[in-house]
Amino acid sequence: MTQSIHMRKVYIFLFIGASFLLQLCTTKKKAQNATVATKVTYVTDIQPLVVKHCSPCHIPPQGKKEPLNTYAAMKAEIDNVIESIKKNPGEHGFMPARRAKLSDSTILVFENWKKGGLLEQ
Ligand code: HEC
Repeated sequence: MTQSIHMRKVYIFLFIGASFLLQLCTTKKKAQNATVATKVTYVTDIQPLVVKHCSPCHIPPQGKKEPLNTYAAMKAEIDNVIESIKKNPGEHGFMPARRAKLSDSTILVFENWKKGGLLEQ
């Protein structure tokens, strides 16, 4: 009798240990997924940046410059866009015109969008 109570304790102990290990593994996996998931899409990432930094100039009808307010336009212009936002204020073709240079992390979003295959959503 004492033997089986002792065994039950061992089982409970093993069970708790195993659940703890399982928990550890899944938490680690979640953390990894979070860092790997750098999916950049037009709808989630690019469009808000264009609205924030490139309006009104590139958003018709107020904007008279080449429209950048659609997925198709941004996709077609991405190389020009990256080139111009990487320039420095004062350089010919620097964008956003007459404003401060975008932050490195914002520029990186455009570059990662291109790298990731220019996803719409
Ligand atoms: C204050 C108005 C203004 C803002 C804001 C602005 N632009 Fe422009 N953009 C212009 C003007 C003016 C031109 C055309 C004159 C030129 O070529 O320098 C232009 C031209 C461009 C061109 C074409 C360059 C080429 O190859 O001929 C691109 C690409 C561009 N802008 C991207 C952007 C992006 C991306 C943003 C936002 C991050 C932005 N612009 C913000 C005024 C603006």
